[in-house]
Amino acid sequence: MLSLLLALATVVAAARAQLSPTFYASSCPAALVTIKTAVTAAVLLDRRTAGSLLRLHFHDCFVQASPGCDASVLLDDTGKFTGEKSAGPNAGSLRGFGVIDTIKALLEALCPRTVSCADILAVAARDSVAAVGGPSWTVPLGRRDSTTASLSTANTDLPSPASSLSTLLAAFARKGLSSTDMVALSGTFLPDQSITISSAITTVYEHGAVLAWSPT
Ligand code: HEM
Repeated sequence: MLSLLLALATVVAAARAQLSPTFYASSCPAALVTIKTAVTAAVLLDRRTAGSLLRLHFHDCFVQASPGCDASVLLDDTGKFTGEKSAGPNAGSLRGFGVIDTIKALLEALCPRTVSCADILAVAARDSVAAVGGPSWTVPLGRRDSTTASLSTANTDLPSPASSLSTLLAAFARKGLSSTDMVALSGTFLPDQSITISSAITTVYEHGAVLAWSPT
């Protein structure tokens, strides 16, 4: 499973060669421990939050040009654009915004205007997985936050449970992820019964794509 999560992290970082795991080492040395502490507390309160934060990062990264991990998913609608929150795959089901808001507030108090929301999402996803006993990985840091978001791009780029297998495969391929990556990532939280991922898994199972996955 770690290799698959690394695949997502690699895609996420692919076009950002300048990213570095030590990006905040001098500008905000407590950034990572602050995120981890807040995520761990949130997951202790509600174990489902782990999956919610992973999904939040996934839905952030999948929208817009690669990589789209720019925190655009967090932006509310403005007079200039309608954001991603009301897109079909997000509306009413994307969770964890409050945890990210809390972390951002903590980091603004510690190191004003330093840690990007995109990095908070990426680190929170990693720490969430680890908090429920999953693997951990190194997160390259230094992403910039988007100042805009697009409802229509979110509807186009994000996978839907109504999508055909070929549409799903094409959506993942556009992000550099294989069918094996897709099935394994989509099933990341399946063994955790506190997390509902049934629609995603049902979609994949119904189309038989799970046959492509060899759980090694
Ligand atoms: C293959 C395409 C995928 C589709 C069509 C899909 C669709 C969905 C749907 C419909 C839900 C239920 C939302 C609700 O609560 O109503 C869901 C939940 C979830 N998905 Fe996906 N998904 C896909 C891939 C992925 C991937 C790659 C990941 C991991 C990176 C992921 C992680 C999750 C998690 C953790 C949840 C539970 C979230 C929560 O409880 O807040 N999904 N997905």
